[in-house]
Amino acid sequence: MAEENPAKPFYSVLILAFVCSALVAGAAVGLRPLQEANRQLDKKKHILYAAGLFQEGKSIEEMFAPIETKIVELASGEFVPETTVSPNSYNQLKAALSNSTGRSLTSEEDIAKLRRLEKYSLVYLVRENERVSQIILPVRGKGLWSTMFAYVALDGDLTTIRGVSFYEHGETPGLGGEVENKRWQDGWRGKKIYGDGGKVALQVVKGKGANIEPQKSHQIDGLSGATLTTKGVDSLMEFWFGDHGFKPFFARLKETKEKTNG
Ligand SMILES: Cc1cc2nc3c(=O)[nH]c(=O)nc-3n(C[C@H](O)[C@H](O)[C@H](O)COP(=O)(O)O)c2cc1C
Repeated sequence: MAEENPAKPFYSVLILAFVCSALVAGAAVGLRPLQEANRQLDKKKHILYAAGLFQEGKSIEEMFAPIETKIVELASGEFVPETTVSPNSYNQLKAALSNSTGRSLTSEEDIAKLRRLEKYSLVYLVRENERVSQIILPVRGKGLWSTMFAYVALDGDLTTIRGVSFYEHGETPGLGGEVENKRWQDGWRGKKIYGDGGKVALQVVKGKGANIEPQKSHQIDGLSGATLTTKGVDSLMEFWFGDHGFKPFFARLKETKEKTNG
């Protein structure tokens, strides 16, 4: 009987490992477009949640169809033509990382701990009889453990919150993770972002918020055991609704409104 080559089991294991890794790598690459499509669909769902337009049982694409997706240059507040940046393929986070489409924030500017800021942001418009009735804006900022991502839907008055949807974070479930609790998010509806003098006045407060005006309009009930996460929520709101976020965009919109009203 011929003697078996002692290296044979080694080669068999090597070939098996190679085949398995090729299969796993192939599946990972092959499934990437599907994963990306699902991620985009999930974002649309959260935009609809924030805007109060989500209806159980209806197709997300169908509900999202009337929402207009636009690009805004944050510094100037101007809309950017689709020929310059296409809203359908724009990756905001990736843009922040490149020096041609983003920049580093100074420690003074970076209250939401973003490190880098993109030049352009996506914005979503809902129209009723030609008039913009809601604007939904993407925001993000650091909580205790992670960067939290949310959409904030604003009324046409550019200060009253129609709804909010925190959709991605790495905070502790049951503590900071309660930012995704729909009942807590419901408490944001009707609150006003800006106080007197146009400064961001919205704040998550420990325990129950005030029940008398003017504080009531700006205060959101805290989340127990999650003060550090909610401090991050305050900071991200202050950043995105401040001078480096959407404030120049709001100024432009108000100017245009005044011009059209004569
Ligand atoms: C394992 C562990 C996870 C925690 N996760 C969070 C969190 O996600 N967000 C948060 O604000 N605090 C978290 N904390 C609690 C903070 O350390 C801190 O005690 C808390 O923010 C204080 O909030 P309170 O004043 O509402 O009690 C965590 C603590 C532990 C031990």
